Amino acid sequence: MKKPHLIILGAPGSGKGTQAARLVAKGFKHVSTGDLLRSEIAKGSELGQTVKDIISKGNLVDDNTVMALLKANCDVDSESYIFDGFPRNETQAEMLESQLLKGRETLAVYFNIDLSVLVNRVVNRRTCSNCGEIYNLETKAPKVADVCDKCGAMNSLVQRKDDTEEVISNRLKIFKDTVDPMLDFYRSRGMLVELDASQDPDKVFGQLLSKIGLV
Ligand code: AP5
Ligand code: MG
Repeated sequence: MKKPHLIILGAPGSGKGTQAARLVAKGFKHVSTGDLLRSEIAKGSELGQTVKDIISKGNLVDDNTVMALLKANCDVDSESYIFDGFPRNETQAEMLESQLLKGRETLAVYFNIDLSVLVNRVVNRRTCSNCGEIYNLETKAPKVADVCDKCGAMNSLVQRKDDTEEVISNRLKIFKDTVDPMLDFYRSRGMLVELDASQDPDKVFGQLLSKIGLV
């Protein structure tokens, strides 16, 4: 039987990408609007050039642009998706439902965490530019310095441009200003579950599997 689609809601650094990567092994397809936008910037496409400055300041790209990018990268009838980074506000939640999901079975999982711990998580994040594996210099360093544990690429661990203290403060402020109406959107439809994202990644994954009924 086809699994439901999953929407992961959570602040910058709450662990959305880390947990989504683990869920892929359970048969989900991971789509991250942040990754899609960064890939447009890396390609130097027209879209990438338009969004580069917005993202580097930690602001949100406009709703219609991101919705179009998401739609172009999903086939919701053939796969069960993890939506990571979309929606970011109530308008996007409405668009996702009316333009893509259209009543298909979906659960929204909120990664609840005290925002004060997130600056430290984010400034210490490094990502493999070859395979996308997510590291943390304090809590999940690669076994051999500068070599990706997953794909073996050397000197591939990079810091995102929006992972500076100044930019992350703006990203967290935007999150605080937009999260409540979005949670209400899913809560009022009986689609919302919550977990404690402050625990270590194995424990968060355990909660996640149990909340979505996979254990
Ligand atoms: P996006 O890429 O979506 O960034 P984000 O939402 O800010 O989230 P992050 O990727 O920073 O954090 P994460 O929750 O994935 O955490 P991770 O698992 O990496 O968006 C970037 C930008 O693109 C936006 O600011 C905006 O400009 C634009 N954009 C994207 N989508 C958009 C949209 N829909 N509309 C408009 N604009 C959009 O973990 C973080 C760190 O913590 C890592 O180092 C990890 O190792 C560590 N960690 C993870 N879990 C744990 C744990 N349990 N305990 C301790 N450490 C942990
Ligand atoms: Mg992420």
